[in-house]
Amino acid sequence: MLKLFAHIGIRQAKNIAKLILGYPVSYPSLGSMTLDKDDVIIARSWLKDRPDWNNNELVSEYEKQFALWNGSKYAFAFMGGRVALSACIHALDLNSGDEVIIPGYTCVVVPNAFQFAGIKPVYSDIELETYGLDASLIEDKITQNTKAVMLHHLYGLVCRDYEQIINIARKHNLKVIEDCAHSTGAEYKGIKVGNYGDAAFYSSEQSKIFTTIQGGIAVTNNDVIAEKMREYYNQAPIPDDIWIDKQLNNVIFNYYAFKHPQRWLLGDIARLKYSRKQLISTTHEEECGIQPVHYGRKMSSPIAAIGINQLKKIDHYNSIRRKNALRWDEWCNEKKYKKPVVIDNSVPVYLRYPVMVEQQKKINTSWASKELGVQAGVWFMSNIHPADRPVNGCPNADKAVKQCINFPGLLK
Ligand SMILES: Cc1ncc(COP(=O)(O)O)c(C=O)c1O
Repeated sequence: MLKLFAHIGIRQAKNIAKLILGYPVSYPSLGSMTLDKDDVIIARSWLKDRPDWNNNELVSEYEKQFALWNGSKYAFAFMGGRVALSACIHALDLNSGDEVIIPGYTCVVVPNAFQFAGIKPVYSDIELETYGLDASLIEDKITQNTKAVMLHHLYGLVCRDYEQIINIARKHNLKVIEDCAHSTGAEYKGIKVGNYGDAAFYSSEQSKIFTTIQGGIAVTNNDVIAEKMREYYNQAPIPDDIWIDKQLNNVIFNYYAFKHPQRWLLGDIARLKYSRKQLISTTHEEECGIQPVHYGRKMSSPIAAIGINQLKKIDHYNSIRRKNALRWDEWCNEKKYKKPVVIDNSVPVYLRYPVMVEQQKKINTSWASKELGVQAGVWFMSNIHPADRPVNGCPNADKAVKQCINFPGLLK
């Protein structure tokens, strides 16, 4: 606590100096930018009244609303995209000893979900236009144990080889999972991504398109797969009240720390107030590939209430992201960097705007705040970010690890 006080004291002294000299005291945050005062009011009311947090009526309502908005037949809400992925794995009957082809450029919780089920993730390289799986490399990875392909739509872009990947999977009788953790609301041929494969998952973690601090949704349009998804869902426990309390407090904390216009000051006050309640997305044990004890929980009603409110605003915020992308397009044109590719018939949502820059510019991103007034994001810093485990045979992914930075989709 003493260390925190000292840290905050130094930062606020610097902030005051910056204010006096006319420099900016905060930059657009890389997460929680869809949290508003209305979400804080909802979180506070659940904390105050403490009705039955385990009554799952609102969760069903959230699932219904998400399914309708997403154009999916079935939706099941969990406490993370990673858990929703585990539900997809169960629903598709993937079992110990099976292999699944996944991009060699992802978040560690993705291979973890497969490994927790005894499945071998087989990494395949990405292309550098949308950072999705390169379809031309997939067939070489198929063995007699391969049962599925997991494609992803990264940074809010629709992946370049979307249809080809699905066609290859169909040809080889493989199931398709879509990782839509970054791309909730993106569309291809007028249909939301996640509806082309057999099952898909979305994330409402704090750095995503919409947020419930932690959260994820699994969807499918197939009745048989849905039954198995429900089987996983029915055995999933609801988080205990201590966890729900923490999560609601994190809605309030994140609003003041990352969204409020005076976050440079109120964020630090919130850091002191909520220091014991802060949640982290990926624990050290998950980075090491260990399954946390509390893995696999479904969503609770208070968090679904936040989700329902976020869902009301998601189209509005996604349209702002698309407008803001024009600024980054211009910057790429001016600086002669390649823009991310928006494939024909697709509508991206630009969770972040990815650009390949010189390696030095990723090692030290301070130039971005000086030149552009934003923080540059660094997803991903390793092939299975943030874990530093080797992934062989993915040269494009290795290149993206060294050179791909991203700009925020939301600027205020
Ligand atoms: C590409 C990708 N897939 C899946 C996930 C998992 O989502 P969640 O954090 O909701 O478990 C993440 C990240 O956080 C991610 O970046």
